[in-house]
Amino acid sequence: MTKRGIRMSNWKTVYKDKIVSAAEAVAAVKSGDRVVTGHACGEPQTLIEALVARADELRDVEIVHMVAMGPAKYAQPGMEKSFRHNALFLGGSTRKAVEEGRADFTPCFFHEVPRLFKQGILPVDVAMIQITPPDADGFCSYGLSADYTQGAAESAKLVIAQVNEHLPRTGGSRISLDKIAYVVEAHEPVLELTPPKIGDIERKIGENVAGLIPDGATLQLGIGAIPDAVLLFLDKKKDLGIHSEMFSDGVVHLAELGVVTNKKKTLHPGKFIATFLMGSRKLYDFVNNNPAVELAPVDYVNDPYVIGQNDSLISINSALQIDLMGQVNAEMIGSRQFSGVGGQVDFVRGASRSKGGKSIIALPSTASKGTVSRICLELDRGAGVTTSRTDVHYVVTEYGVAELRGKSLRQRAEALIAIAHPDFRASLRKAIEKENTKVIA
Ligand code: COA
Repeated sequence: MTKRGIRMSNWKTVYKDKIVSAAEAVAAVKSGDRVVTGHACGEPQTLIEALVARADELRDVEIVHMVAMGPAKYAQPGMEKSFRHNALFLGGSTRKAVEEGRADFTPCFFHEVPRLFKQGILPVDVAMIQITPPDADGFCSYGLSADYTQGAAESAKLVIAQVNEHLPRTGGSRISLDKIAYVVEAHEPVLELTPPKIGDIERKIGENVAGLIPDGATLQLGIGAIPDAVLLFLDKKKDLGIHSEMFSDGVVHLAELGVVTNKKKTLHPGKFIATFLMGSRKLYDFVNNNPAVELAPVDYVNDPYVIGQNDSLISINSALQIDLMGQVNAEMIGSRQFSGVGGQVDFVRGASRSKGGKSIIALPSTASKGTVSRICLELDRGAGVTTSRTDVHYVVTEYGVAELRGKSLRQRAEALIAIAHPDFRASLRKAIEKENTKVIA
């Protein structure tokens, strides 16, 4: 865990001297700069808005981040000359720009993102971050996203910080004022995540996944309906722990029920460990000044060697499709980039290093209103592999559990067909026979 920065006795004066308006702060951005912004619910919306307002005077400013929760106006048509978005993960407001060639996508493991900045592979000119007001010692908390944001701030030539008093103050990582060039006070409402809709299929998948989770396990959960559905079936478990890229409101509910205690964790016992947080005000109030919650940079939290120090680490992530050898595509629909690698592979590998660990890929058996099987002979043309067949462990659908580790290709195909939607099982069998492939048929 990092506790970087120096304590300044005169921090109140230093802080006051750095305060400027958003327009004054972003005036420091030059054409051709690479700007890395905080992301997810920690996005510094006021700073981004002010930067976009300079579109007419700027050229070729590269904007790098992971999940955009805001409107991402710099990625909208007409902005191409001023801004070029380089996405490390895609969301609803940035997907189209990449699809239409107005923005780029860079594949990367989440835990390696800070290294791209720190090692100068993607040198950072300006980091635009959102932080809390200073504490009694003059340090600011990264609030909802420490992840790569801390690494970007530490390697940037210039740091512009939006200070927001509505951001929860979390422990585990902080920034000292001497690292910041400009402070912009903008106490806007913090972005919140809309809870996903959980249907019958997600509930069944949640129940199947819950059956793989023993008492005392430490969990990593992704975002979305499936991870949230899993949480619904954990209320009878005992002493679960959290070491996760992120967590949301469902975990708070289990903590209130006394199910998540973090007591049995072999690394950071008693602590919720995460690298970013997304949820509602309920989550933000729970984590605010909570000594049991630590938000550390992603090169620590998602490092597979760190993850593996948690015994019984169960990682739960989702996918778009999986082929009969066990190759997982979690980020592309055909050749169209849909999301990104995120922390999936970090946790799949961490879980496999963990004593008693399991990595679970949980997905509905079909997509597009039941017309497409997500379990398929081959991944769609143009799709990339997120989790390799060598890394994959458990695969879960609403029809059951397939354990693939240590299984031959032939056994994998059988196990996966058994959890495919019944409407597609015969055609999958036929497809492998037709292929006459010696390895899986
Ligand atoms: N063929 C065609 N369309 C497909 C498809 C397939 N094989 N699989 C999914 N789709 C469609 C769905 O029908 C859905 O369309 P709709 O919105 O019109 O209904 C859309 O693609 C999204 O699929 P869905 O399964 O609902 O996505 P999700 O929101 O649950 O996200 C992942 C699933 C895999 C994209 C997401 O978990 C992810 O990005 N994972 C990678 C990163 C990761 O695991 N990070 C670690 C944890 S944060």
